[in-house]
Amino acid sequence: MKQLRVLFVCLGNICRSPTAHGIFERRVAEAGLQDRILIDSAGTGDWHVGRVPDSRASAAALKRGYDLSHLRARQVRPEDFLEFDYLLAMDQQNLWDLQALALPEFAGHLGLFLDFGNSPLKEVPDPYPGGEEGFEAVLDLVEDATSDLLAHLCGQLD
Ligand code: 4NP
Repeated sequence: MKQLRVLFVCLGNICRSPTAHGIFERRVAEAGLQDRILIDSAGTGDWHVGRVPDSRASAAALKRGYDLSHLRARQVRPEDFLEFDYLLAMDQQNLWDLQALALPEFAGHLGLFLDFGNSPLKEVPDPYPGGEEGFEAVLDLVEDATSDLLAHLCGQLD
């Protein structure tokens, strides 16, 4: 049975990538594909390793029905390039950092998360230094892009 493994990556792994992780996990479970599409998230930085998502990200997600409380931050590691088929960066700096870490044998998809979805934005703006509206914007972008990502991956599983 073919499986696809998806890793969402941001800087701290406490705001954007755990939001994408939690929302996509729900979408995949609703589609009954939890054994075919495996999901994780990580940060390029190590400051928040082991921590739960930022309380503002968790609260905003919970208001839309997504529970992020089981997630813990971890840092990207070189083996991720052997273990994942899709590494999806939240912004251009995350993508550059991943490109610098990539193993030569990596044959998967490394790109921007917002290459999926319909937003004119190509990066998910970092909400960490700002207010609540930034976390709502992250949720809007992630909800849109995850729908398109799921449709794309379903096409790969056929
Ligand atoms: P994230 O947001 O990359 O979406 O998790 C950030 C979290 C923490 C920091 C920066 C961005 N920080 O500088 O600690």
